[in-house]
Amino acid sequence: MFGNNHLPEVLHLRLGVNIDHVATLRNARGGARPDPVQAARAAIEAGADGITAHLREDRRHIRDEDIARLKAEIPKPLNLEMAATQEMLAIALKTRPHAACLVPERREERTTEGGLDAAAQYNTLEPVVSELKKAGVMVALFIAAEPAQITTAARMGAPAIEIHTGSWCEAVAAADQRRAAAEWQRIAEGARLARRLGLEVHAGHGLDYQTAEHIAKLPEIVELNIGHFLVGEAVFVGLAQSIRTMRAAMERGRGNAVS
Ligand code: PXP
Repeated sequence: MFGNNHLPEVLHLRLGVNIDHVATLRNARGGARPDPVQAARAAIEAGADGITAHLREDRRHIRDEDIARLKAEIPKPLNLEMAATQEMLAIALKTRPHAACLVPERREERTTEGGLDAAAQYNTLEPVVSELKKAGVMVALFIAAEPAQITTAARMGAPAIEIHTGSWCEAVAAADQRRAAAEWQRIAEGARLARRLGLEVHAGHGLDYQTAEHIAKLPEIVELNIGHFLVGEAVFVGLAQSIRTMRAAMERGRGNAVS
């Protein structure tokens, strides 16, 4: 409209707040407090675009009733992180979250970088992706930014991937610049490849204010899922403030988008 038609479209970057570790704190003492659903509502009021929760097979933090309450009580999309098992698929089909992110829970399901080994697990993952899609759930595969994993996700018909940012965040935190640069290049190239293949691109794991601001510069990425750091910061500044500061960091990064 203002002669900017040649510029790539930079989409809003959504923040999914993962409230698993509010449940970790609750479970440390038993009882009902702190309530992860109350945390989810507070996160939304402070600017979260959605809530992410991982119902693990061992139920170490989030429990079945938390998922049911989140779906019933929060006014924004619920993203259910889940293993690709028949038990979790049945829960997802009953709950009908807005989105589901398939994650590895067992060592043998993982690539060396920590995400799903989509190629090796194709026959297990594909039917779960297909069932969730049929139910209208937006499915993402949590994978490393490796070309083989990304092309497999596209071939499987997954509408989205979530790039595992853990190794990059670890390298940044350790001030290992050479490794951080290599991991960053892998993420940036992976995000571009995924978009070219028509996948929606999310990212998450280990992000803090600094790494979230940096990754927000990649215009291909439309959603960040962040949990542990925000809940940890909440100890010092409160959950609402940690989320507001995170949103501001993401907006700054997005304003400096690169392509
Ligand atoms: N995305 C996925 C798929 C995850 O499994 C997790 C961890 O539960 C996160 C994002 C959030 O990671 P963190 O708690 O390190 O911010």
